[in-house]
Amino acid sequence: MNYKELIIQGKAEKINTRQELLTRFNAFFSEKEARLEIRDGNLILLLKEIDIRKLKGFAEARSHTDENRKVFTGILQKVESIKSYGLNNGKRNYVDYNKERKVTGRKGKEKNRGIYYYAQDHSFSKQNNDFPGEYENRIICGDSLKVLKKLPDNCVDMVFTSPPYNFGLEYSDNADAHYWEKYFEQLFAIFDETVRVLKYGGRIIVNVQPLFSDYIPSHHIISNHFINKKLIWKGEILWEKNNYNCKYTAWGSWKSPSSPYLKYTWEFLEIFSKGDLKHDGKKGDIDISADEFKKSVVAKWSIAPERDMKKYGHPAMFPEKLVEQALKLFSFRNDMILDPFNGVGTTTAVAGRLGRRYLGIDISKEYCDSAVRRLKNNKRK
Ligand SMILES: C[S@@+](CC[C@H](N)C(=O)[O-])C[C@H]1O[C@@H](n2cnc3c(N)ncnc32)[C@H](O)[C@@H]1O
Repeated sequence: MNYKELIIQGKAEKINTRQELLTRFNAFFSEKEARLEIRDGNLILLLKEIDIRKLKGFAEARSHTDENRKVFTGILQKVESIKSYGLNNGKRNYVDYNKERKVTGRKGKEKNRGIYYYAQDHSFSKQNNDFPGEYENRIICGDSLKVLKKLPDNCVDMVFTSPPYNFGLEYSDNADAHYWEKYFEQLFAIFDETVRVLKYGGRIIVNVQPLFSDYIPSHHIISNHFINKKLIWKGEILWEKNNYNCKYTAWGSWKSPSSPYLKYTWEFLEIFSKGDLKHDGKKGDIDISADEFKKSVVAKWSIAPERDMKKYGHPAMFPEKLVEQALKLFSFRNDMILDPFNGVGTTTAVAGRLGRRYLGIDISKEYCDSAVRRLKNNKRK
């Protein structure tokens, strides 16, 4: 039988005289739980699967001699100090619990499989550049395509954005069959600039809500574009808005398999890395707490949508909480954060508040003015 072995005590002469200690232990626990034996003068605990409460009860039993109780309590402490085990019906399992997770030769196998094979042959420079001071901590009103061209390569730590659903083209203009193609063409021209200005090891995070009613999987199309540009797809966060206010009427074909219409209460955050999944930063510039980290690495974030859009005068804002969680998880303090579709400045307001540097660009003067006001309020807080 396979056991985890622990040396409990190494004084052979003494232990050899304590046969009673072994007999008691081995009579109380089954072979499937644990055994005690003496080998090469050492008292050895063979541990398989044990209910820690049962071990505690046994160790503290009054029927033991004081000397034996001391040894059993020592065993209990040693077992309690083991922090890695599996759980099986309330019992702690110390052998084979991670057998399935343990892959031998993992690195070699990853290489053979071709881990992010689509991005391996990128030609990104590893030379990162300083962000130009004149653009630091600013809101710029203009077309991102033009503004971004003024920035050098590899100077931004993280892009956090949510693209427009509409580049000035009418949604109702169904006569224009190329609408979606044009939309993506314009969007990708700007996204390509964000890839260029992103540092090696930097991240791009795009919040997307696909237009399900048009059957356009924008999150896939956008992801595919970044993958073609040799970025590494780092992952996807499901932003659960718990937005259940869609009416239960006959959407699609009511109560029939012919064409039921699916409803979504969430949006996506697609995350990409340039060149390297690792992003460098100083330890002292980490500001996420242990609890926040544990919560944020579970890739489903339950965050209410922005309720104050009227106050800011923008119809498609994301909430500050979403930006805060993303910035703390994926960036360091003092990192340079860019939002090329900054709207009324949710990204820049949160970046400023969290001690990041920022640049926000939006084509609308009205939205930019609102973003500036928000930053001023930040400073007053
Ligand atoms: C979905 S909204 C972003 C809202 C923002 N996340 C917020 O919370 O305020 C997209 C924004 O992109 C802006 N936009 C559209 N085309 C642009 C372009 N070519 N350059 C810069 N901004 C643009 C729109 O004015 C709009 O405010």
